[in-house]
Amino acid sequence: MNSIQLNSEGQLKHFLGIEGLERALLIEILDQAAAFNQISEKQMKKAPLLRGKTVVNLFFEPSTRTRTTFELAAKRLAADVLNFNVNASSASKGETLIDMLHNLEAMHCDMFVVRHGEGGAAHFIAQQVAPHVSVINAGDGWHEHPTQAMLDMFTIRQYKGDDFAALKVAIVGDILHSRVARSDIHALMTLGVAEVRVIGPRTLIPVGVESLGVQVFHHLEQGLRDVDVVIVLRLQRERMLSALLPSSQEYFQCYGLTQTVLQVAHPEVIVMHPGPINRGVEIASGVADGSRSVILQQVSNGIAIRMAVMAMTLGVSAISDA
Ligand code: CP
Repeated sequence: MNSIQLNSEGQLKHFLGIEGLERALLIEILDQAAAFNQISEKQMKKAPLLRGKTVVNLFFEPSTRTRTTFELAAKRLAADVLNFNVNASSASKGETLIDMLHNLEAMHCDMFVVRHGEGGAAHFIAQQVAPHVSVINAGDGWHEHPTQAMLDMFTIRQYKGDDFAALKVAIVGDILHSRVARSDIHALMTLGVAEVRVIGPRTLIPVGVESLGVQVFHHLEQGLRDVDVVIVLRLQRERMLSALLPSSQEYFQCYGLTQTVLQVAHPEVIVMHPGPINRGVEIASGVADGSRSVILQQVSNGIAIRMAVMAMTLGVSAISDA
């Protein structure tokens, strides 16, 4: 995949997945985002690095956080933004994805931000677009959600510092259907996190996940012992092809993150969740809204990360130019 993600100088051209990217590139994204984060804290939140560029949000699946933070990020970079409504488009009249893309390209677009239910969709689009156009994967099926992973890494660094090698991180829940889990695991391993654990019922842990370097736990309390970071994932029932679980209530009893079970983690543990959260299913309200939760900070950080990735793929830098 990197042959298409990177240009001949090893810089980002498209941002399609974390797998295979070098540590130095992930750190560069985090550093660029840190510079953009400072701009976001000012009264004047603009860094007009993409003035004259046009960004198209192409979302074939629903989204609250990702779509809106991509839109805000593009606007803070002074790009023109088109939120293309796929459901109201001529796709319903039989127009193919490729024809739709070529028509949008004819309007002189510079970037497509793509969310799609099929793994590989953003990669496919990146293969079709004109050489000046960049494609960013905003989540493709069960495959990857790379900007979510980078905003998760940014949040971990914000609260825990630069020394990723000192950390123990647990990811709890529906690992099998989660593009966030896949991207997070690749990012955590590449950044050198000491221990990455996945916790969940056997039916929701992918076979062979240990080959990615993670430890597997089926018992929540055992998996959470002494961890510095907990990333909770929702049950992706819309992607389950058969009944993989008894009921939401039973799931909560075994795997729901409560104040009680969280006590086995490190006293300074942070609790993360990519959203949307299902209260009383994978997380108790007291934890989601509690003092260890950084869930809304993740959403805020999504703007800076998306500004960084948009700027980098279009060849500009916050650090030298802003
Ligand atoms: N985390 C995330 O991808 O949320 P949305 O589906 O709301 O974009």
